[in-house]
Amino acid sequence: MNLFDVYPLIPVTPVKALGCTLWDDQGQEYLDLYGGHAVISIGHSHPHYVQRITEQVNQLGFYSNSIQIPLQQQLANKLAELSCLHSYQLFLINSGAEAIENAIKMASFVTKKSGFIAFKGSFHGRTSGAVALTDNPKLIAPCNAREDFHFIQLGDLAGVEALLSTNTIAGIIIEGIQGVGGIQVPNPDFLLGLYQLAKKYEAKLILDEVQSGYGRTGRFFAHQWVDGLYPDLITIAKGMGNGFPIGGLLLSPEFKASYGLLGTTFGGNHLACAAGLAVLEVLEAERLQQKALELGERLMAELRTIPGVVAVRGKGLMIGLDLNQDAGPIRSLLVSKYKIFTGSAAGKETIRLLPPLSVDWNQLHSFVIALKEVLAS
Ligand SMILES: Cc1ncc(COP(=O)(O)O)c(C=O)c1O
Repeated sequence: MNLFDVYPLIPVTPVKALGCTLWDDQGQEYLDLYGGHAVISIGHSHPHYVQRITEQVNQLGFYSNSIQIPLQQQLANKLAELSCLHSYQLFLINSGAEAIENAIKMASFVTKKSGFIAFKGSFHGRTSGAVALTDNPKLIAPCNAREDFHFIQLGDLAGVEALLSTNTIAGIIIEGIQGVGGIQVPNPDFLLGLYQLAKKYEAKLILDEVQSGYGRTGRFFAHQWVDGLYPDLITIAKGMGNGFPIGGLLLSPEFKASYGLLGTTFGGNHLACAAGLAVLEVLEAERLQQKALELGERLMAELRTIPGVVAVRGKGLMIGLDLNQDAGPIRSLLVSKYKIFTGSAAGKETIRLLPPLSVDWNQLHSFVIALKEVLAS
């Protein structure tokens, strides 16, 4: 049977990894500055993570949500502690797109409306609701297309208010920092404006922190750079499991649960919770959030001095840089010659950096040197 061929592949076959290093089947070492789409948060095969998952699977790997799973509450407690969002509630699922589906469903249940506002450049996933909120017509099948889902330019509060005033909008969804869109950081006043408008028109504000959350930007959630902003719903995944498939929806206290309202077979299983707890324990013990901020600032300052780099955007270790040329061939050279993985973005000229938060300065600096060399050649 052939694989359904939907991915353009980097011609490398990693077989082993530790921290920010990957090794391929020939023993060649690579530096991972992409973390498999921002998934590797605490570093590949972190010993504490491996130990916790191993112990858990030896005890009990899975049982469904029809029995008590105390690990779920432990995970929620730890998440509250690190995010400081003590009053929110947690619903566990398996991926980012599922988190989005449940977020929009909850916003729609509560407001009894069906329209949503998303933003130009957005990416929220591939399932039916999430993809309809993703600003890429190529990904939207006819059965997913929604006339009541609208895309507004980032920053256009007047456009948002005009739609909200039609009284058809259940929610506004925005990424903490746009990832696939090329690391676009929303203006804090714009985010606060959305928060106020959502309140005024009784719509729900959904912060998609699937890529920008979990300490990557130097705050637990990227939107926490904006004082006084408390979204109604927050979606999480990616870095939450460091590679183990787990996602979550944080719901503010106004949302009332009832039996059967939401559900999942795999979400919140024992093994996923063990992985999720291990991630939070390492984030805290190794101060990875603080490190991400310090290293990210230093790296962005260096990147801005490189001839051929025309723009650098981001916070912490969520960084986008625009080159004065197509980034594709440069990224290929970085892999083939310098053995460094980086990411692409919607813009052809953009390189996206989303390294494990355990990366060190020497590793980041080796990228600076390599990029300088490639762009000078
Ligand atoms: C901001 C954002 N939201 C949602 C998703 C969807 O997550 P998943 O691929 O886990 O379904 C992604 C994936 O890239 C993302 O970047």
